[in-house]
Order: sequence, then structure tokens, then C-alpha cells
Amino acid sequence: MHNPSLITSIEARNQAYRESLENPEEFWGHVADQFTWKRKWDSVLDWNFEEPNVRWFDGAQLNITENCLDRHLPERGDEIALIWESNSPNEESKKYTYNELHEAVCVFAQVLRSGGIKKGDRVCIYMGMVPELAIAVLACARVGAIHSVIFGGFSAHSVADRVNDAQATAIITCDGAYRGAKDIPLKAIIDEALQHCNSVKTVWIYERTNIEIELKEGRDILWKQAIAHVNIQEAINTPAETMEAEDPLFILYTSGSTGKPKGVVHTCGGYMVWTHYTFTNAFQYQRGWVHFCTADIGWITGHSYILYGPLTAGATTLLFEGIPTYPNPDRFWEIVEKHNVDILYTAPTAIRSLMSAGNDWVMNHKMPSLKVLGTVGEPINEEAWQWYHKMVGKGNCEIVDTWWQTETGGVLISNLAAVTPSKPTFATLPLPGVEPLLVDENGNEIFGNNVSGNLCIRKPWPGILRTTWGDHERCKQTYFSTYPGLYFTGDGALRDENGNYRITGRVDDVLNVSGHRIGTAEVENAINLHTGVIESAIVGYPHDIKGQGIYAFVIYQGLETDLRTLSHQINETVSREIGAIAKADKIQIVSGLPKTRSGKIMRRILRKIAEGELESLGDTSTLLDPSMVDSIIQGRL
Ligand code: WTA
Repeated sequence: MHNPSLITSIEARNQAYRESLENPEEFWGHVADQFTWKRKWDSVLDWNFEEPNVRWFDGAQLNITENCLDRHLPERGDEIALIWESNSPNEESKKYTYNELHEAVCVFAQVLRSGGIKKGDRVCIYMGMVPELAIAVLACARVGAIHSVIFGGFSAHSVADRVNDAQATAIITCDGAYRGAKDIPLKAIIDEALQHCNSVKTVWIYERTNIEIELKEGRDILWKQAIAHVNIQEAINTPAETMEAEDPLFILYTSGSTGKPKGVVHTCGGYMVWTHYTFTNAFQYQRGWVHFCTADIGWITGHSYILYGPLTAGATTLLFEGIPTYPNPDRFWEIVEKHNVDILYTAPTAIRSLMSAGNDWVMNHKMPSLKVLGTVGEPINEEAWQWYHKMVGKGNCEIVDTWWQTETGGVLISNLAAVTPSKPTFATLPLPGVEPLLVDENGNEIFGNNVSGNLCIRKPWPGILRTTWGDHERCKQTYFSTYPGLYFTGDGALRDENGNYRITGRVDDVLNVSGHRIGTAEVENAINLHTGVIESAIVGYPHDIKGQGIYAFVIYQGLETDLRTLSHQINETVSREIGAIAKADKIQIVSGLPKTRSGKIMRRILRKIAEGELESLGDTSTLLDPSMVDSIIQGRL
């Protein structure tokens, strides 16, 4: 299948960029023509950023799974759609052809239907990285249910919050998950979460680890038993649900500046076009290539670049159950060699952690199949970029630094592999359809080059979020009100003399720890639940491996006197409330926090203290008690 919207030269990129901004309707209409639609659109784009209201391909009907699966069957039904690699190098990998994946999805879709799941219902998915996770996600999309995948590292409490917010009627989970040396008891966590959720009627369980689980009569169904009852021919012949282009495809919860995670909503048509367009162009995907994205499907990167982007393109996508350092820090390289991976897409945190394991681990692997190396999730430092390029790519691979967000659905700013130049630590240029701009604190646009400011986007691209689930006002307030008329990313950026963008990090109260977004308020709320904690403040500080670490300043008046025990207990509370990913790296007990006269915590000062930049604390005269700062500095960890 020739891909007419694949950009193959700088000139073509510049022309596509111009056309996409001058005439977005014609441009995206043309791109969208290559998909399978059940009905074509009445209009390509209607939008305003005031409400906000964004509609792409309005009036069109489709099912995204027909574009991921069915349409490839005549030509490449026997080609590999999915390779699964176990957590353990000793377990055999699994491969699904497009025919096989199609069948498995149709079968599980039938299970969902017979369980009463219909279009518009919300289904939460809480599984490890097994093929059945991909099958579950696609089966939801096939029957028109809105999937909400919850990362397997979240606690029962976080799961319950998400299930309740979405009012999910069903859960798909596993008995347990393998992750490195750990076994995670997913089903037990679901059981605990569901004590606080009454919308859920059915739980399907895929047995992966065979740990003992309790089955609740009338609610819990084993995956294997459920699919055993399906008539395969009937399942294959049952048509995929007809979806409007603007019907929700999924909800994905992500952290923001407030305590409560918000459900970012993506819709069927625009998201499909965007993930396909960005996947094929940023990575310059060629037919027959194997694409290995190391993210978890619980995050947006897994949604867009393990599942929807590669599958709509008919690629071979690789799903890895484990972690980069288990059993040894050459697990990625082993997988690359074993499966002849062409594109490797990972996060700076993984790169830094593998770099710190020493060069021998990577030098022993030649990896001649590699062509493109991608990075995502956080700013990549020059040293990690160079190591990735020289040691992993052996100097022969293109590096694409892709900047984007849960809310953007797919990549917005990135070089296109071997088509537009890379520049270490820069995401470089926007993709067609994306018009970035920098603004100052007052919302005035900052023109010219060699400038930095807050990164906004002027117009909608097909993959932009449409709303936050159940609370449209929150979507408006969070993204479209800070700078009226613009989408505000929450990131700061710098623009060089050639118009290349370098993302410098979040400018709001969101931390990026190991490429995971964590809201400071969420962590503070969790810490404050610990007995004896009066108040707390969280800031980020530079961390060699994780990019950012979590530094907690805590006012504690409880009984525990041993600081190590106390820190441990506080982190246990955080794990219970949110998940282990949000644990603080440093916990400093303080007698007070620097506050303004109006009672606002001066985070700027705490940030400087955590970063160790004690000379540049700035003006502390507006503080209620300036001497507080000295005592915090003295106790600095
Ligand atoms: C950060 C992940 C620098 C950024 C796809 C953004 C990056 C947040 C990059 C979104 C990059 C993502 N360079 N920073 N290439 N990619 N970020 O929603 O701060 O998990 O706002 O989406 O990650 O994280 P999210």
C-alpha cells in the first residue's frame, strides 16, 4: 500500500506544512481519503477554542479497528501484526498475523457484546503487557465501548477514582502481571478498588501468572472460559460497530495541576488520522519494518504508537511485557536483535538508566536492523542523546525527538527521520497542521528567534483532545483559558535561530518523573493523609536518571521520631493512595513552609532549595516569616 501522505523530502515537508495551515480542510481531507470510512464526512473541520468545540470529519462514520485490522487482510493477512516478548527471556515469544489478531479481536468483541457491553459504555482495562491487553483495547473499540486503560502501577485507590469518574460498567484485568522481578497482583487490587465502585457489573480476568485469585460469583468471568463459548465464524462475520467520527474512542486519565486526575477524551476519526500520519512521517515507517515502542499501553504513548498508529499503517508492532533492566540491562538490545527491530521508541529515563549500566551491555549487541531511534516523554539531555546515537545506533541511525502530550493524541513537534535534520536536545520543527507559538506570562506573543516562553498552539490538529470526561469546563479552564484563543501546553520552550523548538519542561505544577506525569497536588494530598502530617509541599529537582525527582517538604507533628521510618511510612501512604511511581525521593521534615501573607506557599523558593541553588532564592521579603527559609536550608537533604 503506497502511502500518499508520506513526506520524503525537506521541500515536501515545507510545502505540506504551508498547505496544512493555509487550507487545513483540503489538506486533511486528502490525508483522510486513504482510510476506510463507512460514510464520508460532511465537513472536515469546525472549531472554536472559546468553548472549546473542535470537530474533525463531522458526519463521517467509521470503526477504527477496521482500519487497524480488516483493511489489511486482503494484502497482508499473513504478515505479522503483533510480536509479543515476555518479561522472561526464557519464555517463547508470540506472534499474531493480521488474520490472527483480527480473529482474536472479533472473538473478544463477541464476549463483550454477550456481556451486554454496547456503544458508549465505559470499560476500564487494568492489565499487564500481554497480547490480550491489545486485544481487549481493540475489542472495546470494535463494539464502540469507550476504553479507559489504567496503568498497572496505580493503586486500588487510584483505580477506584478512575472507574468512578468514568462510571465504567466493566473491567478487564489479569490475575497478575510480571514486571521485572516483581509480580503485581492486579486482580486483588481490582477487588479492593471495586469495594468503592458500584457501577461495575462484570470483570473479565485473563490468567497470566496463575496466582490464586478469588472469583466473585455473578461478576467475575475468566477470559479463557468466556472465549471458549464464542462461535468464531459468527464473531468474524459480526460487523464492527458504526461510530461517528466525533464519538469518543477512549478516555485516558492524566495528572494536572489540581489534585484530581482528569479524563482526557479522544474521538475516533481525528485520532486515527493523527496517529497514522505522525507514525508514518516522524519515523518514516517503511513496509515490513518492525516497530518497538517500549512504553506501557497504560500511557498515551502505548495507545498511539504500540497500537493505533502502527496498526493503522499495517506495521509489525512489538509489545514487551518487561522492563529494560531485567534480567540484565541489555534486555532491549536482546529483543532488538532477536526480532530485527527497525524502529526503537523509548524514553530518556530508560536511555539514561541503560547508559549508567555501562557500555559493555550495549557494545556486545550489533543490532544491524536498527534504522530509527525515537525518544519521548521528557526532555533528553545532550549526553543521553549522544549515547543513544553512538552506542545504540552505532552512529548509523536517525534520532527523532518527538514532543507531544496525552492531550495531543500524537506527536506535534519532531524531526522526520532522515528527512528533516535532527538537533540534539531539540524536538525541532512542528508537523504539518501544528502552529506553535511562544507567549510571555501576560499572553503576549514572543516573536523572533533565540527566544523562550510558554508554548501554545494556535489551531486544532486532528488529534487534539475534545474534552475532559464529565467536565467540559475543566478542559476549557485547563487548556484554553490561560491564554484565550490558544491551546496552552503547560510546557516552556525555546526557539533557536532556525525556528527549531527545544522543550524545557513543565511550567505548571506538574512533575515529569521518569517520563510519567505527576501532579504535585496529588502527591501532597496523599502525604497529608498520613497520620501526624500537618502540611506538605512537593517540588521537582534534577535527577540523573529520572529526569526529575520528587522532593517533599513535610510538616509533621506525629509520634514517630525515627526519620527513616517516618519517610518510609509516608511513602507507603503515597503508594497506597496513588502508586509507587509517585513516591518521594527525598522527604525533609520542616517546622513550617515559606508562605506569603495571603497564605500561598512560595514554591519557587522551595524549588531553588531542592535544586541546591541557594544563591538565587530571589526576593523573600514578601514572606510571612522570612527566617523560615534559613531553617529549611539548614535541614536540606
Ligand atoms: C513532556 C507523553 C521534552 C512534556 C507523550 C509534556 C517532552 C509531557 C517530550 C507530556 C519531548 C513529552 N521533549 N519533553 N520529546 N515529550 N514531554 O502526557 O513536558 O505523558 O508536556 O505524554 O511530557 O506527558 P504525557
